[in-house]
Amino acid sequence: SLNARLGGDEVVAKATKIFYAKVLKDETLKPFFKNVDMAKQTKKQTDFNIFAFGGSEKWYGRKLTEVHKYMGVSNANFDKVGEYFSQSLRELGVSEDLIREVEQCNEKYRSVVVTV
Ligand code: HEM
Repeated sequence: SLNARLGGDEVVAKATKIFYAKVLKDETLKPFFKNVDMAKQTKKQTDFNIFAFGGSEKWYGRKLTEVHKYMGVSNANFDKVGEYFSQSLRELGVSEDLIREVEQCNEKYRSVVVTV
């Protein structure tokens, strides 16, 4: 799976942690997470990423459409989030080929996350 090729759950967990540090430093993204428990969020996002990258069979969390429904995420927000995840993987030494695969995988969720 892509998850295994990225280096497994541990690498995905590390990347997700680095990723949220970047997200929270971005003034355009920070407000979305104002009332969110970031420890729980990091765990959930890690589990989801592992699932999305084919490292687990099932996602036990909420449906992404429901989660992001009234959030007002724009294409620009979505692009930024994607860039930060790619940068996080890059900092961990993941190859550009694999980063491109991750970007293609994330792209599948644009239509369910972006609502404005
Ligand atoms: C929550 C996935 C993009 C903001 C979540 C959760 C997942 C997720 C799995 C946790 C669901 C649960 O509680 O069970 C994704 C994916 C994305 C994406 C795969 C893109 C590929 C975004 C973007 C934003 C965003 C672009 C905002 C700029 C949030 C917030 C929560 C959340 C604020 C917390 C909701 C809450 O607990 O109240 N997302 N997301 N997400 N997402 Fe996203």
